Amino acid sequence: MNSVAAPTFVDISSHLAWFRSYAAHKTAQEKGDTSPMDLKLRHSMNVLENARRIVEGEKFDAPTARLCLLAALYHDVGRFEQYLRYHTFRDRESCNHGQMGVRILKAHDCLKQESPQNRKLIMAAVGMHNRFALPAHTPPLVALITNVVRDADKLDILLVMAEHLNGPAPYNPTVVLQQPDDPTIASEAVLQAVFEHRVAAYAALRCVNDFRLLLGTWFFDLHFATCRQKFLQDGYAHNLLRHMPPTVPQAAARDHMLALLDAAKNGA
Ligand SMILES: [Fe+2]
Repeated sequence: MNSVAAPTFVDISSHLAWFRSYAAHKTAQEKGDTSPMDLKLRHSMNVLENARRIVEGEKFDAPTARLCLLAALYHDVGRFEQYLRYHTFRDRESCNHGQMGVRILKAHDCLKQESPQNRKLIMAAVGMHNRFALPAHTPPLVALITNVVRDADKLDILLVMAEHLNGPAPYNPTVVLQQPDDPTIASEAVLQAVFEHRVAAYAALRCVNDFRLLLGTWFFDLHFATCRQKFLQDGYAHNLLRHMPPTVPQAAARDHMLALLDAAKNGA
């Protein structure tokens, strides 16, 4: 990857048009509530926007920027088919939506205008964007593109979580992966991740307050300064942590995480 001058405008309009019409077509096939699919379309557009912010902020060259934007646009293309077939976004109960996305890209030949090398890179990023961690020895360009998608994805998931968990209306339990909102319990593994400054795993969650902490730990798993700045500037993680009652067993970890984020924000 060359980090030269800011990329000239990267035109992905034909891909955007295809994506929108594919999403509309799949949504029209759904007989029940289509709002989860509408949210995925909005999420995909937001992730694309966040990726654009990253590639511009990090001054990627235009060919690299194009790969990142296409991977961001298509990262959740598998979500529509997943929801139509299984009516859930929980991969463990349905299918791996990253892999489903790769199948969709191949089946519709969405990347036919791209070079064979670029096709492989974009599909690798789509297929791996939802892994807990990238495999060791992932080729550097694949890792770079996938990490742009992963960072951009995290920023938008934080927005969605903040809207749900900090809002006045009762939130939808699917948003917190059906975790109980029990203020008396905490996951040791999540607390440990906070104090060890590493990202906590979904599998370690035991309750909603664990989820708030987990979202804070995403700060440790951001790869680009542009993204870290946006994370701090948006303040969604701060708000999620501040909304935790002071008496929860996560209190010390919450205070630790908040202090860390405040220090990062103040440039300490
Ligand atoms: Fe995803």
